[in-house]
Parts: sequence; structure tokens; C-alpha cells
Amino acid sequence: MPSEKLQSHLVTAQSVEQALASVENRLDKLNLPVLEQKLGSSLAALMRATEAEPEARWALRFSNEKAFLLSLAEDAAKSEFGRFLLCARGLNWRTTDLLFDPAYQATLRRQERDGSLCFFDRLAFFACPLFLATRERFGIFQRHTQPLVAEGASLASLPCGRMRDLLSLDYSRIVRGIRLVGLDKDPEALQGAQIFAAEVQAQKPLHGTIEFRVSDGLRPGLTEAGIRREFDLVTSNGLNIYLNDDQCVTFYRHVQEALKPGGTFITSHIVPTDEYRWDQINRDHWRLQAVILTVLIGALWEPRVKPRGLVQEQLETAGFREIRVFPDAQGIFPTFVAKKPH
Ligand SMILES: C[S@@+](CC[C@H](N)C(=O)[O-])C[C@H]1O[C@@H](n2cnc3c(N)ncnc32)[C@H](O)[C@@H]1O
Repeated sequence: MPSEKLQSHLVTAQSVEQALASVENRLDKLNLPVLEQKLGSSLAALMRATEAEPEARWALRFSNEKAFLLSLAEDAAKSEFGRFLLCARGLNWRTTDLLFDPAYQATLRRQERDGSLCFFDRLAFFACPLFLATRERFGIFQRHTQPLVAEGASLASLPCGRMRDLLSLDYSRIVRGIRLVGLDKDPEALQGAQIFAAEVQAQKPLHGTIEFRVSDGLRPGLTEAGIRREFDLVTSNGLNIYLNDDQCVTFYRHVQEALKPGGTFITSHIVPTDEYRWDQINRDHWRLQAVILTVLIGALWEPRVKPRGLVQEQLETAGFREIRVFPDAQGIFPTFVAKKPH
């Protein structure tokens, strides 16, 4: 029996009050010298740098280190994205999609203009190196996916979340038909994707079919009926980053089985900090990100980062060949494009 657990976030999420109480608990036990060594800076210096950021002076407390860290968590709780991260320690279909949704970005820009944007949202959406890399990665996926849009092709997204990856491609040249398949373990994600697909179809009708199936990336065959040699493309963001090494190889094997010979797999992975392009990264924003994601939230993907070489090895172990790697500008979240041999 597949487990009900979702790898990407805690389904029985704690309340904001519980999350803030556990942040406070963790802060009481915090080993400051160890944190400062990891950050390569004193927390006092980070507090001074943060105070100079727009909105920070009003949103945060700077009286001492603990008050500062706790105020960062309280400020995160004012944001939909931050609240979900604090409570569920990962991202689901809806919160991930906020990063890629132009309408949501426009709302945040309006809030910025009228002064109501919270500090956390400014950081997460416009400054935080990891989330900037995530948005850039979305564009890199689009560039490698668009050329695979062809008459009669079968394209899948796993986990599809809201399926913006496939639904925002250009299908205007398809006249005979194409097949899009959204696969996710969370039925709520499939429902969200279905609604989004209907909105997109209403604006730009696509010649072809769009279907959704409950699917577990860790289950052989992916679905109850089993999927074999069905897709020309599987695109996958945001599941492997939560998996351990063995689970990654298992997941890649299942994707390999689901692809037709010659099919393409596009995925990405967060790499360790020693592989970053540090000359492209704002260090203070990275330090704030590290404090928020590691110390305050304990993000579930943090212990699962993998060197680029290891991801390539795991893809090869699962049977993929011709693996090409496309890093983002900061070198945080490279994209892997791999082929199933003919
Ligand atoms: C970070 S979101 C990414 C969603 C989408 N790919 C995107 O980029 O917007 C993670 C997704 O993984 C799904 N998920 C978690 N565990 C899964 C599993 N074992 N099999 C399939 N999907 C899973 C969640 O329901 C969620 O939609």
C-alpha cells in the first residue's frame, strides 16, 4: 500500500501558534557560534545589514539576537507563502505556484507601491537567492520543454502541482492534437491543476487532451494501473529535492519506465553551497535565507541537497543517458535534461 504521506510537506501541518512556539523553543537551544560560523558572519553584523533593508526597521526587532530571529519568524507568518513554510516545512502545489504566478507577482508589486508588502514577501519573492534561482529554473525548464511540443506528443508533469510548467507552453502550432498528463499524489493538487487547465483552455484552446491521474513517484508504475512507455517527456520539479539518495534512484527508475524509448526527462536539484557561484549571490540575502529556512523553519529539502555529480550518477543508475546540465546564474538549482536510450 502506498503511504498517505506527501514527501514535499507535512500534511498534518501545525498551526501558526504551534510553529512559532517551536521556533522559540529552538532559539532557546540555538548554538550561536556554530550558526555564525556557518553564516561566515556574526549575527550582530547581519542584524545591522538587515536594518538597512526596506521595511525591515518597522517589521523586525533589533534589541538582541533572539528577538531579531523571533521577529523574522513572526513576520514570515504574515505572508501566505511564509505561513505555509513555517507550518508545513515545505511547499505544496499552491504555494510553489505563487513563485511562478505573474498575477501574484503583480499583487506583491502593488503592495510594494502602497507600502503594505511584508518584509518576508519582499525577501522571498524579490531577493532570496534560492527562490530567485527557483524562478529562473522555471524559465530554463520552459526553454527545454517548448521544443518537445509536437503533433501527437504525450507530455507529462510529475509532480504536476498546478501544472503551470506544461500549461504555460505555446501550443498554437498544434493542429492535429497533443496529450498533456498531470500526475500528483495530492488530489487537491490535481483539482487545482484541473481548474487552472480550464482557465487556460478558455483563453487559448489547445488541440488535444488534458488528463490528470493520482500518482506516487515512489510507487512502481506510478499509478494503480501502471504507466509504461507512455510519454515523450516527463518534466519534474519539486519532488526529488525532498527525497534521499535511494528514493531518488527509485523515482528516476519509475520515470524511466514511464517514458517511451528516446523520451526526455527534465528535472532539477538544489546543490550544496560549495557549488554555488558566489560572485553572483548577495551574501546578506543568502545569510537571511539560511537563518529563516534552516534555523526558523527547518525546511525539509535542506538535508537533501545533492552535488550535481551525484544527481548525474543517480540518473545514470536509473538508466538515463546523454545527461546535460544547465545551471541558473547563481549555480544553486541546476536543470538536468536526460534521455531514455532507444
Ligand atoms: C514543491 S511542489 C511542486 C509542484 C509543481 N511541480 C510545481 O513546480 O509547481 C511538490 C508537489 O509534489 C507532490 N508530491 C509530494 N509527494 C509526492 C509523491 N510521493 N508522488 C507524487 N507527488 C508528490 C505534492 O503534492 C506537490 O504538488
